Amino acid sequence: MLKKFSFIERMWEILGAQPQDEGNAEVATLSDFLLRDARYTDIKQLIHIQKEVYHGVVSWGKTIFLNEFNGPHPVKYLVAEYKKELIGFAGIRIEGSVGHITNVAVTKKFQRKGLGTCFIHRLLDFARYHQCETVILEVKESNVDAQKLYEQLGFLSMKVKKSYYNNNEDGIVMELSLKDEIDER
Ligand SMILES: CC(C)(COP(=O)(O)OP(=O)(O)OC[C@H]1O[C@@H](n2cnc3c(N)ncnc32)[C@H](O)[C@@H]1OP(=O)(O)O)[C@@H](O)C(=O)NCCC(=O)NCCS
Repeated sequence: MLKKFSFIERMWEILGAQPQDEGNAEVATLSDFLLRDARYTDIKQLIHIQKEVYHGVVSWGKTIFLNEFNGPHPVKYLVAEYKKELIGFAGIRIEGSVGHITNVAVTKKFQRKGLGTCFIHRLLDFARYHQCETVILEVKESNVDAQKLYEQLGFLSMKVKKSYYNNNEDGIVMELSLKDEIDER
């Protein structure tokens, strides 16, 4: 089970400072964030988060989440809470030696505070636990902000999936190799 304090420690480690909530009277402090496993009862809010971050487009509805949570593969879906409100989520599915990061989303107000990075670190730990050799994800060609996040964590662009997204946009497949770590174990 994920613990609040280990999450907070990780946040401090990554951010190294108090996050600034620019333009908002209310300033989020790290002790207000909680990272935990997603529950069935969160699905409605996960859909709401997608609507916010993807400009009204919801790529994963209730059925997809339920299939994912109950599917044959090991999965880890995490949510971040601030004052009991969900402010982000992320997930990974393990398929043999490959971990597939399926989703990462942080609501606009809480972006650029290190949450996306924290989510990925946690998902990578899950992939390591399952002895994955690689972790992959797809990202829209136009989503340079997300690409920067993944690049900072060592992901490399490997190939393009033509018209991968509903709007026909190409998807870039990014990959992180964990093979060296396995060899060292
Ligand atoms: C992409 C996303 C998950 C990043 O989450 P986040 O919590 O803001 O990420 P972090 O704060 O950990 O950012 C880590 C790095 O990513 C890059 N980055 C993230 N958002 C950025 C932005 N808006 N502009 C430029 N760089 C950005 C930066 O390099 C950043 O490091 P820095 O803040 O030290 O410069 C978030 O912006 C989001 O939910 N976007 C909408 C949904 C989405 O695109 N998901 C990814 C689908 S593949």
